[in-house]
Amino acid sequence: MTNPDAHWLPFTPNRSFHQDPRIFVAAEGMHFTTHDGRQVLDGISSLWCVGAGHKRREINEAIKKQLDTLDYSTAFSASNDQAFEAASRIAALAPGDLNKVLFCNSGSEAVDTAMKLALAYHRARGEGHRNVFIGRERGYHGVGFGGMSVGGIPGNRKVFGTAMLPRVDHLRFIHDPVHHAYYNGIEPVWQDDLLLELENRIIPLHDASNIAAVIVEPVAGSAGWYVPPQGYLKRLREICDKHGILLIFDEVITGFGRLGVPFGADYFGVLPDMLTFAKCVTNGVIPMGGVICRDHLYEGVMQAHTRSPAHAIEFAHGYTYSGHPVACAAALATLDVYREENLFARAGEMGLLLGNAMHSALTGLPHVVGIRSLGLAGAVELVSPPGQAGKRAYDVYMDCFHQGVLVRSAGDNVVLAPAYVVDKAQIERMVSTLAQAIRRVL
Ligand SMILES: Cc1ncc(COP(=O)(O)O)c(C=O)c1O
Repeated sequence: MTNPDAHWLPFTPNRSFHQDPRIFVAAEGMHFTTHDGRQVLDGISSLWCVGAGHKRREINEAIKKQLDTLDYSTAFSASNDQAFEAASRIAALAPGDLNKVLFCNSGSEAVDTAMKLALAYHRARGEGHRNVFIGRERGYHGVGFGGMSVGGIPGNRKVFGTAMLPRVDHLRFIHDPVHHAYYNGIEPVWQDDLLLELENRIIPLHDASNIAAVIVEPVAGSAGWYVPPQGYLKRLREICDKHGILLIFDEVITGFGRLGVPFGADYFGVLPDMLTFAKCVTNGVIPMGGVICRDHLYEGVMQAHTRSPAHAIEFAHGYTYSGHPVACAAALATLDVYREENLFARAGEMGLLLGNAMHSALTGLPHVVGIRSLGLAGAVELVSPPGQAGKRAYDVYMDCFHQGVLVRSAGDNVVLAPAYVVDKAQIERMVSTLAQAIRRVL
């Protein structure tokens, strides 16, 4: 007998959930089946994960085959063939000399891994004093203590107080609700130079010689799909280079095709020192995350060990399930599907339709104060009723669900980010359902 109270849901208003449960029991393509037998169109690729759509035969078969061949093997001091192959494929897809892959199991672990690697790298080069991290307001980097500390979504931080890393600062957020509330498929062009603050306040305050890394999402996803101003990431790269600061792109959402190309680094033409990924790498089917790092990171850490004994571990970090063979088999099959069906390009094409549909159907509706789209994702921002931040967006989410479309509410935004296999009719249905819901909420 199932006890519905036994499951404490993550990032969920649990009391409200139990009054109106939303339980999926099956999925296929772009749709879920719910416990009460309804079909729901998946408008957010299930938390930005299911790029190729649900229940892909090729991926499921690769998983089954792997389970029947090598189910699991230790990750430490030995590895498995699938992990080497998956790392090679991922490194080959990544731009520049992002050549080394460290596997883990989630985006949160990927971020904490990248932060620890930044510390290890600086220390290996005799710069162990570089231990300040710079994140950005409203950034989301998962829920580990590192990621939470560099993250900047207030609600995710407020109850964790002194558990936060002490040596952290944050860049200003990349949103101008007055001049750039609406943009469709472009990077907004700002008059202000948002990064002057980094050069004139943050770096002098901590002293450049103490700063380990800057971490940003190329497009701020969880906050509600905010695109950086034109030239922002290039300039951020230049500032980091000037001061010996590492640049980490958190590509847990933008990685593997969301912007119509493999990574945000490709889209913006900026090469970070490390790039974190998760979600779409396995089509969300088996948990997997990772960090891709450039050659100099690996070489820097190894060079510090030229005189260490052969059995010395150079980077004391890893997870029991790092490079799990079943997850790696799922990743390899997923990458095959993306390539064979040319799904990254399709994401770009469908993204144009999504952006146009959102802007034409939602502009001017009650409460709407912004619409932002780039790649295959878009957000509509709703003004909150006084003292009730996020309520309208949540009510819209609930209304859409009852009309058979799964969207995501993120603060005062409602986000659409469907699988890359979405078609025009499905985009139109998502957007018209969203428009009706916005008209209905109080
Ligand atoms: C940019 C970014 N980083 C990290 C994470 C955390 O990933 P996970 O939930 O797999 O730990 C997320 C999750 O949405 C994310 O969007």
